[in-house]
Amino acid sequence: MNERDSEAVAAMLRDRGYSIVGHEKEADVVLLNTCAVRDQAEQKAIGKTGYLAKNKRTNPEFVIGILGCMAQNRGRELVDRLPDLDLLVGTQKFHRVPDHLDNIIASMKGRGPTPGTIVDLDEEEGSQNTIRAHNVEEPRVSAFVSIMQGCNMNCTFCIVPKTRGRERCRSITDIVEEIEEMAAAGTREVTLLGQIVNSYGRREIPFLNGKSPFVQLLEAVNEVKGIERIRFTSPHPRGFKQDLIEAYRDLPKLCEHVHLPLQSGSNRILRAMNRPYSRERYRQIIDDLRAIVPDMYFSTDIIVGFPGESAADFELTREFFEEIGFEMAYIFKYSVRTGTPAADLEDQVPQAVKEERNQILLQILAERSMVRNRSLIGTTQEVLVEGPARKGEGILAGRTRGNRKAVFPGDRDLAGKLVNLHIEGASVSTLRGILNPDTSDSKVDKSHLLAH
Ligand code: 5AD
Repeated sequence: MNERDSEAVAAMLRDRGYSIVGHEKEADVVLLNTCAVRDQAEQKAIGKTGYLAKNKRTNPEFVIGILGCMAQNRGRELVDRLPDLDLLVGTQKFHRVPDHLDNIIASMKGRGPTPGTIVDLDEEEGSQNTIRAHNVEEPRVSAFVSIMQGCNMNCTFCIVPKTRGRERCRSITDIVEEIEEMAAAGTREVTLLGQIVNSYGRREIPFLNGKSPFVQLLEAVNEVKGIERIRFTSPHPRGFKQDLIEAYRDLPKLCEHVHLPLQSGSNRILRAMNRPYSRERYRQIIDDLRAIVPDMYFSTDIIVGFPGESAADFELTREFFEEIGFEMAYIFKYSVRTGTPAADLEDQVPQAVKEERNQILLQILAERSMVRNRSLIGTTQEVLVEGPARKGEGILAGRTRGNRKAVFPGDRDLAGKLVNLHIEGASVSTLRGILNPDTSDSKVDKSHLLAH
């Protein structure tokens, strides 16, 4: 989501005549878009700001700003801590960045350094409709689309409801129009973004033929010509109902990968986290999805070391994690977020225990991911080519519908194309393949769904 917000700000600045440079060393303005989910992310952003502010010594017109969740979370306290800060912009004010920047620069040019930091952290009605600008000159093959902002859940560990505010959604028409423009410019895969995408439009848009607003949105996006693949992140297990499960059967563009945050495999801890589902319910969703699409891929978020997580609780998580067999997971060590209910809980878990539990899950993940990747050797996989791989001359990289990374030797101008790869090798994270001679572009492959 931060990447998407940053892109939107960059696109707005480009429209205003600013240019985006390749490296911070070349920049006259640096804006850090920040995360507040864990303390580590905040510390990193604070350190980086301090480091960058040194540029003001050699370049008095150097501008530095902090945007996003940490700005919202910490507010003016950041200005006290970082007196060189020129701009502090919250999560509902990204669209105001160009104006603020113009003002700062005008005042620097006219009357020397600005008198103080511009702070813009208020809520703004309708701000969800402003995260829109995409760069159509350099379209992304695979692009993020923000469908909503904010979160109405109250997970006890999480700072996001504070930093992102109440849930607000964009209209289906507006989202589809944006995706149509992107498709016309060359985008072929979209990832719909929201804190809890399956609660999209629940208050604004009525159910239609038993289908939730989110499934209606997926159906509408599935109709957009030129879009070949649809993904979304993240859904919540609560509200992951039959209509959404059936969408994987009925919508050929919806890729057979779901990122479904589990957080814990212990019902006791789930309750303490205020996550309103049980491991049994979670298991049911996975089983129902696998029944509809047998080669479904799963990824998740897990928090280890939530306050009060005993060895027995963790064992439940470990066992469940292994049982499901996630292909990918983000495993977080619980981080105390001041102002959240869990921050005040006693029985905080020692760092070393969190570390150990983290490692145990990472190990299981690596094994499972390897097994799944190896099982693909010898098969043909459709890959959306994103561009040159990070390593290797003449090597391209892309992703399968199951969201596995794949690399293969090929010509640069295959970027943006769908190709069929014969998979020849696999590591934990990457498939290696060669182009199939029958590689054809632009078709939505439904064969995996026809098995039913
Ligand atoms: N500590 C650790 N991880 C957290 N997450 C959210 N809040 C915290 C926290 N306080 C994780 C959750 C969530 C992901 C985006 O970040 O797993 O799904």
